[in-house]
Amino acid sequence: STYQEPHRPQIHFSPKEKWMNDPNGMVYYKGAYHLFYQYYPGAMVWGPMHWGHATSTDLMHWQHQPVALYPDSLGYIFSGSAVVDEHNTTGFGTGGQTPLVAIFTHHDTAALRAKRNDYQHQSLAYSLDDGKTWTKYAGNPVLKNPGITDFRDPKVMWYEPQHKWIMTLATKDCISFFSSPNLKEWAKESEFGKALGAHGGVWECPDLFTLTDEHGKQHWVLIVNLNPGGPNGGSATQYFVGSFNGHQFTPVDTRTRWIDYGPDEYAGVTWSNTGSERIFLGWMSNWNYANVVPTSPWRSAMTIPRVLSLKQVKQEWLVASAPVSAMHVIEKKPVVKTQLAVHSSLDLTQSLGIDGQPFRLQLEADKAEDLSLVLSNEAGEQVEIGYDALSHQYYIDRLRSGEIDFKKGFAGRHTAPRFSQAAGIKLDLVVDRSSVELFADGGLSVMTEIFFPHQPFHRLAVKASKDLIIKKLVHTPLKSTW
Ligand code: FRU
Repeated sequence: STYQEPHRPQIHFSPKEKWMNDPNGMVYYKGAYHLFYQYYPGAMVWGPMHWGHATSTDLMHWQHQPVALYPDSLGYIFSGSAVVDEHNTTGFGTGGQTPLVAIFTHHDTAALRAKRNDYQHQSLAYSLDDGKTWTKYAGNPVLKNPGITDFRDPKVMWYEPQHKWIMTLATKDCISFFSSPNLKEWAKESEFGKALGAHGGVWECPDLFTLTDEHGKQHWVLIVNLNPGGPNGGSATQYFVGSFNGHQFTPVDTRTRWIDYGPDEYAGVTWSNTGSERIFLGWMSNWNYANVVPTSPWRSAMTIPRVLSLKQVKQEWLVASAPVSAMHVIEKKPVVKTQLAVHSSLDLTQSLGIDGQPFRLQLEADKAEDLSLVLSNEAGEQVEIGYDALSHQYYIDRLRSGEIDFKKGFAGRHTAPRFSQAAGIKLDLVVDRSSVELFADGGLSVMTEIFFPHQPFHRLAVKASKDLIIKKLVHTPLKSTW
């Protein structure tokens, strides 16, 4: 069978072969989730960018589709979004069809080589057959570069109160908002963020959407990916909570927050047209080493799709993430343990039936004390995922996780703050052959981490420094989606 190479993700999307980076153009339409992605079919390293394409009806099982967009005379096809043009504002739907429209960045390498500043422009492509085939708009580009070296990754949404499209664009060290009646003519509305948020690198791949809190109040969330400058080095996804009035975004405060504190979630944005549910997907890698990770014949995978929600902790609004509920379609029969006493270390391999295959592990401890889970193999390699009570931090340690020499700094111990005020700890882990995603305290603290052991991790132990009661432990083996 396919998808059996060493390290090949079993429950995460990855291309059959060759290079992938950012998720692009994610849109839900007529029962299908479309996932496009930055793709170079010519090699296992970054190169002339195309939009690869896959579709799914459940966000878990993916069908590979033909490449949707090829580079052309205007340049490589960089990141962007897709919308359902329900009112046919573009006029592309000449035969009464509803056009799907992709809005992406043309990256002009000739202009870059000529040392010009204006080498990135925004362009359109449309599909009149529900996303199967795509035609580039003859009037491209639709938004020309005003002389800003980083001018890319348009995320477009329909702003119903003013009947117009809003484009959220990454413009070097800030976000620029543009509006349009028809996706073809754009007017600048405002800028955000020059003096706010993290600025250790270039702002990339933004997203703007609403989330409703538990009292039914609507808030706006602005996602801004950043590379480098993430909390654990390299690439990461920050966000702001605030309001948007069709012209400008106003944050509620000046704090920097991250959707995922681990090193391996980047370029994450959300699906268009999914109603009140906000589904987020990130690229499961980091520009620090993405081009040299030891996998073949492909490089990179996506995270598990995640539902975003807004939670308030000590007057502060936080975006929480959880694996989509559709994960149940790949879940096998769970093993449940209750009132498990841990003294220093407890091997769970036999009792849970850990076998090196993907699983989900949900754990509830009565107290917020030191606690960790250790994945390991016979070669003495391990990954440790835990909570450190003294520093109030979650951590993932991949210092001895197997192949680590392909890039200096890959091996490391990474941390995330704990925000929850709850007395006990709740962990939800999604473990695949070469990745772990930690959703702690109902997704308030999230970390994603990749690793490359020489043999599968087919052992699991839990460790605690003080005596601890695990109120509940649920181990759910997961079926391969390939
Ligand atoms: C983010 C990014 C985007 C760009 C694309 C190029 O990872 O650098 O800003 O559009 O990748 O592949």
